[in-house]
Parts: sequence; structure tokens; C-alpha cells
Amino acid sequence: MSKITAAITAVGAYVPDYVLSNDILATMVDTNDEWITTRTGIKERRLLKEEGKGSSFLGIKAAEDLIAKKNLDPKEIDMVIFATATPDLPVAATAAYAASEIGAVNAFSYDLQAACSSFLYGMSTAASYIEAGRYKKILLIGADKMSSIIDYTDRTTCIIFGDGGGAVLFEPNDEGLGLQDEYLRTDGVGREFLKIEAGGSILPPSEETVANRQHFVQQDGKSVFKYAVSNMADASTKIMERNNISGEDVDWLVAHQANKRIIDATANRMNLDQDKVLMNIHRYGNTTSATLPLLLSDYEKQLKKGDNIVFASFGGGFTWGSIFLKWAYNS
Ligand code: UT7
Repeated sequence: MSKITAAITAVGAYVPDYVLSNDILATMVDTNDEWITTRTGIKERRLLKEEGKGSSFLGIKAAEDLIAKKNLDPKEIDMVIFATATPDLPVAATAAYAASEIGAVNAFSYDLQAACSSFLYGMSTAASYIEAGRYKKILLIGADKMSSIIDYTDRTTCIIFGDGGGAVLFEPNDEGLGLQDEYLRTDGVGREFLKIEAGGSILPPSEETVANRQHFVQQDGKSVFKYAVSNMADASTKIMERNNISGEDVDWLVAHQANKRIIDATANRMNLDQDKVLMNIHRYGNTTSATLPLLLSDYEKQLKKGDNIVFASFGGGFTWGSIFLKWAYNS
């Protein structure tokens, strides 16, 4: 009997309507379109403006898109993983609410938080359950309402992030397609360079933490950039070496979209032509857990059965890694 592999068999996505352009940001903080474009590659990002809606709204919309495209009966879904750094509530899993809202009444579900690597790690988790033969249909959602934790008076962070949601379905495959290998790592040294200081168990919310703006993301951009470039490129080249594939064998790089210069550096180390690098940072900025599935959704029609795809991410924690996957369908 051939080994069961875990393949992505459907993709869904959602971004909110409101567009926050570089020019609008330049009216809010001391910045300009030229600086943002040349330093990051970002032109605009989407923001969820409606009051009372959290990351679940973005994830549910993406899941509904997938369910409609695939003509999937949500009752068949065994498990829902909700990758997010911005859960609806500090306690009560966003996954449970999303699963109920989409009608996945026979599923169990939980959240997975690894900052910008949440979706990549979620791919590993979903694939492991499928490979073990325990479940047949796993919905992995990645969604973040980054605008809920961004300080729009801080020009070093507010230019980067945006809101969005994406989803993929993992199912067993007997043709050897799907996830082939992974190289995932963490390093706690990163905690100091990219974090929200307050609101957790070390420093619970207080009037003082609010006054000090400690509930927003703070980052030492230069240090994060340095670690991101070397670790994302290292992970991507390691996975190629381990699987004996060269830049010519790789059909697509699906990399976390935090800064175009980080993606370019990774592609260079992999010896990849530019046209193999999936890119949507100019439209959405860094959507954290939604980035990888949004890329898959944008490029879905170009992906062909059997294509070799390298996924890569780097995020707070630090968390990073790379996954080698063979695409399983033509759309
Ligand atoms: O996905 C999670 C991980 N996050 C990342 O991967 C982000 C990694 N870091 C980055 O992408 C970059 O470090 C940033 C985009 C955040 C910053 O770009 P940089 O090229 O590293 O700029 P910098 O921090 O070295 O700042 C250069 C200059 C500074 O001015 P001085 O000191 O040279 O006079 C900054 O104050 O640019 C200034 N600056 C800005 N100017 C206009 C910083 N932010 C802005 C801005 N507009 N928005």
C-alpha cells in the first residue's frame, strides 16, 4: 500500500473592501509613497472597518468561499484549525466559533498562534493528522485583523500590516502529491524584537498599559529584517538540498509577504527566476496568518497538478521555516 500524503485540494480567500493606500497613510503619519514602496514593496492594504467584527469574520468569509468553490458539505469536515495572532477574544477559541458558523458541526477545532508563521505551522499540523490516517478533511484557516493591534501613530509598523483571511482544505492523496517535507524552527531570542508588551499574563491590561500604548505591536524593524532574511533563505535552501531539488526544479515560491526585499533575498539564494515568485505584498501588505493562502488564491489558476512549491515564512517569536509541497489539482 502506498503511503498516504496530505494534499491541498481547495483554496478560499477574503479581503475587506476598505483600501488604505500609501497616500492616505501619508496624511496620518510622517511618511510617503516613495519611501514605503522602495523599502517594502507595499502600495496598499485592506482594513476591516465594521465595528464588532473580528478575525473570525475574515476567516469565515474565506472558508465560505472555499466551501462554495469546492461544493463541499461542511458536515464532512473533521477538523478546523484557525491560525491567527489576533483571535476574536483572549479566551474562547476563534476556531470553535468559525467552525459552528460555517456548519462544520462534526468537527473539533482549535486556534494556532505562531505570529507570521501560524499558517505554515498549521500546514504541518493538518498534514500530520491526514498522514496518520486519523482524519480525512481538515480545514486550515489563516486570518488576522492586524488593524486591531496596530498603532496608527507609529510609522515604523502601521505601513506594513493589513487585514485578510484565507483557507485551504487538506485531504489524503494516494498519488504521492501534497506535503513532501518540512523544516520548521523557533528561537525565543526574537521575543524582544517583535511583540505586544501588555495584555498577556506578564502584564495584564491596566489604565497605565493603555496610556503607554503597550497593547500595540512594537518591533525593532532592522533586527527583525536581518533575522528574517537569513533564516527564511536558510530554511528554503535547506529544504531544497534535503530533497535534491534545484532552482530549476522549483515551480513556485510561496513566501510570507512582510517586505519585498526579504522575499527577493530568499528567491536569490534559491536561484529562482522572478516569475516563479508569488507576490501580492503591493496589494495587501503583511496579513500575518492570511498571507500564504491569499497568495494561493490569487495564483490558483496558474498552479498545475504536480508543480513543486516551496513555502517559506518568518515571524515573531521568532518562528520560521519552509515546506516543500507538490500541488495536487488543476483548476
Ligand atoms: O512579518 C513579521 C516580521 N516583520 C518584518 O519582517 C519586518 C522587517 N523589517 C522591515 O521590513 C524594515 O525594517 C522596515 C520596513 C520596518 C523599516 O525599513 P528599514 O529600511 O529597516 O528602515 P530603518 O528602520 O532603518 O529606518 C531608516 C530611516 C530612519 O530614519 P533615519 O534614522 O535614517 O533618519 C527611520 O526613522 O527611515 C525612517 N523611517 C521612515 N521614513 C518614512 C522609518 N519608518 C519610516 C516611514 N516613512 N514609514
